[in-house]
Amino acid sequence: MIQVRVWDWPTRIFHWALASLVVALVITGNVGGNAMVWHFRCGYAVLSLLLFRLLWGFVGGHWSRWRQLTCTPSALRQYIAGAQPHTRFLGHNPLGSLSIIAMLALLLLQASTGLLSDDEIANAGPLTVWVSERVVGITTYWHKEIGKALVLLLVATHLLAIAWHFFKKQENLTRAMLLGDKSSEVLAPSSQEGFGQYLKALVCLGISSGLVYLLITAVPSP
Ligand code: HEM
Ligand code: HEM
Repeated sequence: MIQVRVWDWPTRIFHWALASLVVALVITGNVGGNAMVWHFRCGYAVLSLLLFRLLWGFVGGHWSRWRQLTCTPSALRQYIAGAQPHTRFLGHNPLGSLSIIAMLALLLLQASTGLLSDDEIANAGPLTVWVSERVVGITTYWHKEIGKALVLLLVATHLLAIAWHFFKKQENLTRAMLLGDKSSEVLAPSSQEGFGQYLKALVCLGISSGLVYLLITAVPSP
């Protein structure tokens, strides 16, 4: 058995920051009132993280790249049918790849509809001034009802899948997301770590948070 670096530092920091912020968003969104100031801040942070992950999928460590996601229909069929029962996936397995794309897309939609949501009391997303009341009605409905329920459902499924791997397949995926490494029976490439990669990650984070900052502050009023 050899140890392979699967989740590089930037991917792990991204994951645990995203998970903490999503929990904070669900709490602050439900508490409302003064907590909404933090809801907005955490929402902007999640938006920046999601854009960061989009970029990291192109320039990040080997196993964090988009091309490593293996969710073609045939790969999914084979995985579900258990065609290769002994294969341990170093990156995301086909079903995991699909669920992660769904989770990232849904969170992006949730954060974007947040920018266009209005509680009609004291809190309105910064982009509501740009669209009609009808659009704000639709986006707020999605954000509060459908999007919220789907986010909770996908997070619950995510946790159940991780528990299933742990109890049924004796695979501790959480350990790898915490410490970075997985053991492999065959030689496999490691995700690169080091100063160059961290610099790239900082540049990606700078670009993504800069874009979010521009989106919410520098847009002139219509
Ligand atoms: C609100 C909570 C959470 C959200 C939104 C979330 C989201 C995600 C996302 C987007 C990924 C893909 C990572 C990437 O490739 O960049 C991921 C992977 C992963 N998450 Fe979470 N996560 C949450 C909570 C948790 C918790 C509490 C645990 C552990 C108990 C966990 C364990 C993992 C593991 C082990 C993976 C890698 C799965 C694999 O090997 O394919 N997550 N999560
Ligand atoms: C992934 C990111 C986000 C998540 C998971 C999330 C989640 C939630 C939740 C659970 C609620 C409470 C819904 C209810 O009352 O039952 C809420 C409300 C709200 N959120 Fe978000 N939110 C996110 C991002 C944002 C962003 C970026 C903004 C704006 C900048 C925003 C603005 C609002 C507003 C204005 C409400 C109040 C809606 C109302 O009560 O009519 N959210 N959000």
